[in-house]
Amino acid sequence: MLSMPYERKEIAPEKIREQEEICRRIFDRVTADGGRPLAMVDTYGCQQNEADSEKIRGYLAEMGYGFTQDEFQADVIVVNTCAVREHAEMRVLGNVGALNHTKKARPGQIIAVCGCMVQQEHMAKKLKLSYPVVDLVFGPHELWRFPDFAAEKNLGAVAEGIPQKRDGSVKAWLSIMYGCNNFCTYCVVPYVRGRERSRRPEDVLREARELIAAGYKEITLLGQNVNSYGKDLDCGVDFADLIRMVNDIPGDFLIRFMTSHPKDATEKLFRTMAECEKCAHQLHLPVQAGSDRILKAMNRSYDRAKYLRQVALARQYMPDLVLTTDIIVGFPGETDEDFAETLSLVEEVRYDAMFTFIYSKRVGTPAASMPDPYTRADKQKHFDALTELANRISGEKHREYEGKTLNLSSRTNGGRLVHLKGDPALIGQFAQASITASNTWALYGEIE
Ligand code: 5AD
Ligand code: SF4
Repeated sequence: MLSMPYERKEIAPEKIREQEEICRRIFDRVTADGGRPLAMVDTYGCQQNEADSEKIRGYLAEMGYGFTQDEFQADVIVVNTCAVREHAEMRVLGNVGALNHTKKARPGQIIAVCGCMVQQEHMAKKLKLSYPVVDLVFGPHELWRFPDFAAEKNLGAVAEGIPQKRDGSVKAWLSIMYGCNNFCTYCVVPYVRGRERSRRPEDVLREARELIAAGYKEITLLGQNVNSYGKDLDCGVDFADLIRMVNDIPGDFLIRFMTSHPKDATEKLFRTMAECEKCAHQLHLPVQAGSDRILKAMNRSYDRAKYLRQVALARQYMPDLVLTTDIIVGFPGETDEDFAETLSLVEEVRYDAMFTFIYSKRVGTPAASMPDPYTRADKQKHFDALTELANRISGEKHREYEGKTLNLSSRTNGGRLVHLKGDPALIGQFAQASITASNTWALYGEIE
């Protein structure tokens, strides 16, 4: 049974049942002649989108579809898009345009484009007007109605192809809330995903229990800012409480989560992470910039000093904490001096991994109308300097693991990739391994 995403509270259960009934009808149609049609779901962007794609795959599976990675074999292609940076949008448009060829080679192929990009009016228009290859466009809020749209577009009319088994999996995404209230001045997410809506704890826990019963070993709790979980619910459960409740579910599994906004990560959260034995000591705490002036212009609601205090506090509770971050280079008006503060912050914190981005102007956001006198080449220079620093630190950190023994399942408890030689039967299991070598990107080990 699927759990439904957006605006859960506002969607009446009978409406969800209606959607499930539509799935069953499509299933009867597509499986009527014994064939099994194939679908391909192509995902761009964040883990929230990965989680949405899993829901779309869930729906498609209920409709009788198998899955393929080959667009020439697919009867249905769903492109789940991202609007956070222009680069991703360009890739989507290029790839959607190229689907002309596959559709020609496979008449009747249905192409759907969904996700954050189409939530922007100018993009939805562009897709509808300039990309006739696209049959169906729907935003993230309408995902729960996918069966409706599918029925309208006569999905399942092409019933052919070879059955294909879905991959088994170790990791599961679990959305605990949707949307964002923070309005960082560069970011399009609050506009395309709407305001924060938390799922009820009992719904989250039910889904977590189902995932654990199905054999998943890692549950990642997802939200744009998990630290504000529950604020809209009035049931007295905050994010730390939720971690503890998931931790109390019997079973051998690991809890991860993302993303934490530094403005409201609490001591209670760090204490809970330290106390809950199933919670990975891993924190993704995007700093975005090291200069107070830029943080203010970004509307991040914390300064460098507060951020550093939080890092110190988190490490006090978890000395083995794996800390990662996001950084934007080249925010409008960012000077060499501002950027030097980002470098010095990174030196000071020594992140285990960093996700670095060059600022991308997003239509309709406040930053889009801020003066931006610096060139792309200036920004690229800063970006390269930051990448070099990140690689140096990562390599040094990895060397610290050499000679240690860890309990892991392909990644360390903190999320580091470990290449292992061992019995394939161990895939999906936890095992003890000693770390024998390392480089900038990964660790190498042997099963003990
Ligand atoms: N330009 C560049 N990076 C951005 N991000 C969000 N919006 C933009 C933008 N307009 C980055 C932030 C965020 C991550 C998911 O993407 O660092 O944390
Ligand atoms: Fe965007 Fe800021 Fe919300 Fe993150 S917290 S999704 S960067 S507005």
